[in-house]
Amino acid sequence: MSNVRVRDFEMGFDDDGTGIPVVFVHGFPLDRALWIHQRSALSSSARCIVPDLRGFGESTGAASSMGTYADDLVALLDHLDIPSAVFCGLSMGGYICMELWRAHPDRVRGLAFCDTRHTADSEEQRTTRNELIEKTKEHGPQVVVDAQIDSLIAPSTRERRKDIVETLNAMILRQSVEGIVGALKAMSARPDSTETLKSVTVPTMVIVGEQDQITPPASAQAMFDLLPLSARPRIERVAGAGHVSCLERPAAVNHAISDFLATVESE
Ligand code: MLT
Repeated sequence: MSNVRVRDFEMGFDDDGTGIPVVFVHGFPLDRALWIHQRSALSSSARCIVPDLRGFGESTGAASSMGTYADDLVALLDHLDIPSAVFCGLSMGGYICMELWRAHPDRVRGLAFCDTRHTADSEEQRTTRNELIEKTKEHGPQVVVDAQIDSLIAPSTRERRKDIVETLNAMILRQSVEGIVGALKAMSARPDSTETLKSVTVPTMVIVGEQDQITPPASAQAMFDLLPLSARPRIERVAGAGHVSCLERPAAVNHAISDFLATVESE
């Protein structure tokens, strides 16, 4: 575990293992603890770099655009003296990976999109986000727990894995209001990434929980269909998982990422 001054804020991150560098980018409204199982299992064969995004976990500040988060991650690579890495992002982390491909393609060696989508928010989604911003400012992160917790996980996880429900509850509750509000603004303003996906030339994988209610398998399939042959696209559907597939079904997700990394490394 380390903390470093990156650009204009303090960033908390983990950096474990040796091998191909992989940056794991967490979703909203979470922090780097989301990737605990990937970090422990994959650090025997990869260098796992797991940051807290600006305003989440141990990272200070707040962002208001995907560009800020993407530039922060590139600054972390600069600090670690890493020319390029595989980026693996879940949901909002995936939106940031799409921005990374737009803004810093030379730093991207491969892309793993987990439980995410390429489309921008609809007007209705923006209205919902604005309402959540106002409620969070007034009442704090508990309103985000109330709004999100049921849709983050598969029904079977909710019934049988109280530990995961508690982990997610605690993770959301420890986030700052500024970080949450900034991310909601950034997600609301993010562009459509159809052309971005069509332009990918590095190996790319799409992973989705079969019971993901936020970014369902149809979204993952649509992303996969947009990827050109130059991205050597592959897709993995994870049985028994919802939106946070990496936490709900870590063995299946680790297996898929590990296979993917072997392919990227062999290029
Ligand atoms: C996430 O999991 O990062 C968010 O739910 C994504 C979103 O709200 O669009």
